[in-house]
Amino acid sequence: MISQNTIQQILGRIDIIDVVGGFVKLKKRGTNYLGLCPFHNERTPSFTVSPSKEIYKCFGCGKSGNTISFLMEHEKYSYVDSLRWLANRYGIEIEENFATDEQRQQMQVADSLYIINNFAQQFFSKTLFETEDGRNIGLSYLKERGFREDIIKKFQLGYNPEARDSFTKAAIAAQYNTELLLKTGLVANRNDQLMDNYRGRIIFPVHNHSGKVLGFGARILKTNDKAPKYINTPENEIYVKSKILYGSYFARIAIDKADECLLVEGYTDVISLHQSGIENVVASGGTSLTIDQLRLIRKYTNNLTIVYDGDAAGIKAALRGLDLALEEGLNVKLVLIPDKEDPDSYVNKVGASAFNEFVRSNRKDFILFQLEVALKDAGSDSTKKSEVVNSIAETISKINKAEDFTKQQDYIKQCSEILKIDEGGLHALVNKFIRNKISTQEKALPFEEARSHEENAQKAAATDYDDATFNLLFKDELQEKEFARVLLEHGNKKWNTGLVAEFMLDEILDEGLFDNADVLKLISEYKKALEKERTILNKNLFVYSDDPAISSFAVSLLNFPYEASEHWKREFSSSTGYQKKLFEQSYEDFIRSVTVGNENELMTFLKMDEDKTHIEIESALNYLKLKKIKRMLLENQVDLEKNHTHEEYRTLTQTHEHLKQMEREISGKLGAVIIK
Ligand code: GTP
Ligand code: MN
Repeated sequence: MISQNTIQQILGRIDIIDVVGGFVKLKKRGTNYLGLCPFHNERTPSFTVSPSKEIYKCFGCGKSGNTISFLMEHEKYSYVDSLRWLANRYGIEIEENFATDEQRQQMQVADSLYIINNFAQQFFSKTLFETEDGRNIGLSYLKERGFREDIIKKFQLGYNPEARDSFTKAAIAAQYNTELLLKTGLVANRNDQLMDNYRGRIIFPVHNHSGKVLGFGARILKTNDKAPKYINTPENEIYVKSKILYGSYFARIAIDKADECLLVEGYTDVISLHQSGIENVVASGGTSLTIDQLRLIRKYTNNLTIVYDGDAAGIKAALRGLDLALEEGLNVKLVLIPDKEDPDSYVNKVGASAFNEFVRSNRKDFILFQLEVALKDAGSDSTKKSEVVNSIAETISKINKAEDFTKQQDYIKQCSEILKIDEGGLHALVNKFIRNKISTQEKALPFEEARSHEENAQKAAATDYDDATFNLLFKDELQEKEFARVLLEHGNKKWNTGLVAEFMLDEILDEGLFDNADVLKLISEYKKALEKERTILNKNLFVYSDDPAISSFAVSLLNFPYEASEHWKREFSSSTGYQKKLFEQSYEDFIRSVTVGNENELMTFLKMDEDKTHIEIESALNYLKLKKIKRMLLENQVDLEKNHTHEEYRTLTQTHEHLKQMEREISGKLGAVIIK
């Protein structure tokens, strides 16, 4: 873990214009900068960067965030990667805090493995281009296969000489540690002799998403050998096969642009397609896709097209990953390359445009393809056929994200037509699988969580006031967000003997007043920070939180003022003039307007004019109090409409009067803020 101290140093150095300006051409407009949005296609710039607020916002597509979320979004870095990138840029040394010694050791091993791999990659490339064997054997093989020199260099291909230990000798001479060399898989120990593991093989470095070498694939040259065609790096601290997609480093920008990722089996498929200009392609290494690989793809696109040769082994492997892909919300298509060709040989045979055309016109929907294959297998066997129905229903049930609902309905319709069964029946079967899944998920919930689900359900059932009215009244949850904004903006300032945050949080003991999940989360994080990180408490702690939900919410709050909805204006212009004025005028104008004609208030406002913090805090709290009163009024009203004894009725009407009185008082305060 990067230490808090380092993070603070990095945050202190961040210059959003410098960072974003490195990726987007920015022009100064007033206090802000303007450019073409990198997240959507546009011809007129609407991407705005505010250096003072340290945030960006696109008024076209609505994307907004801070420097770190920009790197995460644009470069697909993780939070930690972004911090490392920034540290590197500003020459800040990273101080790591490790929870355990084991973690520290693991990190050190990983660093060393990267260094050795980098050394090895350079050694193999140099050998390929600059030694006789390299050129005569390795390079001539690659050229014969049609790989251009620029592509060989781009993918950093290399050659490991035939001799026993050329690489091992070089690595030992460079003083690399033996144990680590063995870990990389580049060196093997045979009868206590160290020797090269990839002798006489072409080397394909495998890069991570930022271009560092994780490991290697080493291909044999001779075809008649009994040895395996490829040897790959063994699993180690950095080479974790289930998380690797070969070519992702070279493909990421093209995938983003095409909004589609092609998935092939092998190294050479990736490189050949790339060479012919089809760059949005990665390889899985011929095994079925893992959840981590699918998530990697989904960072860039929702559209996955699997391009495999027509032989059965590859397809089966691909099919195995399907259900996971559906659960991840990916749209999966399948293309089979004909005539015993693979994508590499096929693109070399027909050229890029014919290849593209073939892919475009032969894309099959994956679910329908699976159904066709299974049906063909089943033939006329009715037991097998009913198994097919069950398994396709289960597959369809995996598409259960709310936004994919219509997709699911479409599949039910199409599959029932192909199967020649009743659509309603298939529908029921799919629902059964969904229900089963939900109930197993619930069983798996830890006890505490299950109980709170139960309690929430009971609470919801017991609420008998008119939800519709209530929701309409407080639909936008603007007061809640305003509360969160003020907390974020002013929470760390002094207030009497404590901090503003403590005063605010004390005042709202009753968190039932908050409905907005983001606000609730922020409040709970703020409380934690008050305890743990009191000395460095400030809004950046949340703006740059490693939890992207918190960070993006904090950024959206600082984008205030919110665009006031028509609903808000209507609702509150009647109960109090304050909010209405707030949205229609600047603070300054507002203060001027309410002070006219009242000596006392004028004095009060003049005193506060230098610092508006007090007004903001008081009104943020008063919004909420007003909300609470309105809620109680509603509940009371619902109660009033039921049958009551005379006595009960009187109490209820008294309560109503009392609440109305409080409502008037608070509304009054909102109009003429009172300072403690
Ligand atoms: P070429 O035959 O050179 O065109 O390579 P290819 O990438 O087309 O190989 P193939 O289609 O036979 O295999 C696809 C992928 O499966 C390869 O790129 C490797 O990642 C993997 N693979 C193939 N053979 C082996 C092997 O013997 N061992 C291991 N571990 N992986 C292999
Ligand atoms: Mn091949």
